Amino acid sequence: MTSASAPGKIILCGEHAVVYDQPAIAIPVTQVRATARIEAAPDGSGLIIDAQDINRRVEVSRAGAKEPLAAAARVVLGRVGAPIPDATITLTSSIPVASGLGSGAAVSTAIIRALALFLGHDLQSDQISQLVYEVEKLHHGTPSGIDNTVIAHERPVYFVRGRPLETFRIGAPLRFLVADSGLHSSTREMVAGVRAAWQAEPARLERIFDVVGILVREARRAIETGAAQTLGELMNENHALLVQMGVSSPALERLTDSARRAGALGAKLSGAGGGGNVIALVEEENAEDVERALNATGAHRVILTTAREDAHATQE
Ligand code: MEV
Repeated sequence: MTSASAPGKIILCGEHAVVYDQPAIAIPVTQVRATARIEAAPDGSGLIIDAQDINRRVEVSRAGAKEPLAAAARVVLGRVGAPIPDATITLTSSIPVASGLGSGAAVSTAIIRALALFLGHDLQSDQISQLVYEVEKLHHGTPSGIDNTVIAHERPVYFVRGRPLETFRIGAPLRFLVADSGLHSSTREMVAGVRAAWQAEPARLERIFDVVGILVREARRAIETGAAQTLGELMNENHALLVQMGVSSPALERLTDSARRAGALGAKLSGAGGGGNVIALVEEENAEDVERALNATGAHRVILTTAREDAHATQE
């Protein structure tokens, strides 16, 4: 039996603008993971992907070109030049789907890494990341590549589309509460909505993207110097710009407001928006108050994740 797993992720700042070549910052969330286990099957079985959590069983040789699980397997076979093996991949994931935590990219990463290992190829993280990006393009149309990068490398990233991996220092541990609104959203649709707004009003949207870029660069400096207060303010400003892009929603507004009122240093939606998660930057002393406020405002689940220099991102 061969297995591989991949974490979830949160975007700290810069989502959407990153599709338009601005920088963005993301960290892995290792408390939630997607895992793929692969075992040889009798001759003639073909390759089966059994995704138990979502009740889906995919036979790779019969699946359509856009079926995402089969697509992840096919990119590996293409990369290593192998025929479809006789094997079963069992997939499990604790990452909520369609919630901004990168579940699709994590599932692809786990399948790709496990299948490559099964076929005798220990691919590097950047090779895995590129293969996951191929699959992401099928789901999301014009992905920036940030999700596959942060998840395949499992490291904090300062990401600019088309540039090699860049990570950064974390001057002091940063505690984020990740609160799930419980509302699903489609990254493809949210990205398409921003594109439509940009096509309708290019000058207004480009001004917003430029300001996001400036504050992401400031956020990086704040993270490197351990200036949590400043980072919180920048997160609030980033959220206001995401509202102007049209990707917030009443539920996300209620959650970010309640986190700030309960003492969070900053709060914003994270990922594509519409539904999905909000993140709140908290201090050790007020983490519980903010968590309680988020739960009282209807959060379906709240995770505490800490970004720190040594472990990159660990959970408490
Ligand atoms: C999704 O996690 C982040 C977006 O910026 C889309 C992308 O970068 O591809 C909304």
